[in-house]
Amino acid sequence: MKNSIAWKTALKIKEEGGQFTLTNAPIAMRLGTINQLAKACNAEVIPADATSEADLTNLFTKSMEVLGGKLDFVLHSIGMSPNIRKGKAYGDMNYEWYLKTLDISALSFHKVLQTSEKLDAMNEWGSVVALSYIAAQRAYPDYTDMAQAKAMLESIARSYGQRYGSLKKVRVNTISQSPTKTTAGTGIAGFDVFFDFAQMMSPLGNASAEDCANYIAVMFSDYTRMVTMQNLMHDGGFSSSGITYDLVERLSK
Ligand SMILES: NC(=O)c1ccc[n+]([C@@H]2O[C@H](COP(=O)([O-])OP(=O)(O)OC[C@H]3O[C@@H](n4cnc5c(N)ncnc54)[C@H](O)[C@@H]3O)[C@@H](O)[C@H]2O)c1
Repeated sequence: MKNSIAWKTALKIKEEGGQFTLTNAPIAMRLGTINQLAKACNAEVIPADATSEADLTNLFTKSMEVLGGKLDFVLHSIGMSPNIRKGKAYGDMNYEWYLKTLDISALSFHKVLQTSEKLDAMNEWGSVVALSYIAAQRAYPDYTDMAQAKAMLESIARSYGQRYGSLKKVRVNTISQSPTKTTAGTGIAGFDVFFDFAQMMSPLGNASAEDCANYIAVMFSDYTRMVTMQNLMHDGGFSSSGITYDLVERLSK
């Protein structure tokens, strides 16, 4: 989708001279909008369900064929919770869906990394980035099982980052992004309220999808070659703020 963080990132990386392939779940392809992006980026689209090892193997193999060699960067920009979609409260989780949330939003990151290692698909000093949210560290009532998915995602970045770094000098990090008005973001109940709250709690304001794309470009570059196994806060200062004048003013009687 046009407002997706991955969409903005593709345009930014293209602008910076990068070459890449694009992917999404086959079911999401039906909307067809990804073809517009592919045209704008002169990039091939290779459908893959990120929970399927076979699809990921095909994705990496074909990407190396199309791009003519190993990869320098990979972005994991995937999140989905059936429980959130169906409006389930945290005290009424459907556990089959809970496992789906973890599979799609976290375990898929391990599958991406393991598949790329097995195919030896990354160049040395390559960079793999996944997108996280501060609900991995703090409780947000309506983020329900996605909070556990993000905690697991960040943990995978540490564990795999350690392995991939010593094996192949590949960097693995997560970027913890401000609330952003995308399909995944606005699907959370009360999104507008915590978007506005984060805006007031962040001295720089919320980071936009375009800001996030810029940061991802930096993390893909050689300027950050010694950064790995980190969860990097990209939130306008939100995570280090106790309270701000904006909020004091707003709450003053
Ligand atoms: N929007 C926010 O407020 C926010 C804040 C912090 C982090 N993030 C994270 O950023 C990432 C990107 O989300 P976004 O906000 O751009 O929303 P988005 O809904 O545009 O992107 C999520 C993408 O995941 C894809 N997807 C779902 N299941 C899949 C599967 N099985 N295989 C492959 N792809 C699949 C969807 O088709 C969609 O394109 C997510 O990890 C999200 O949790 C978002």
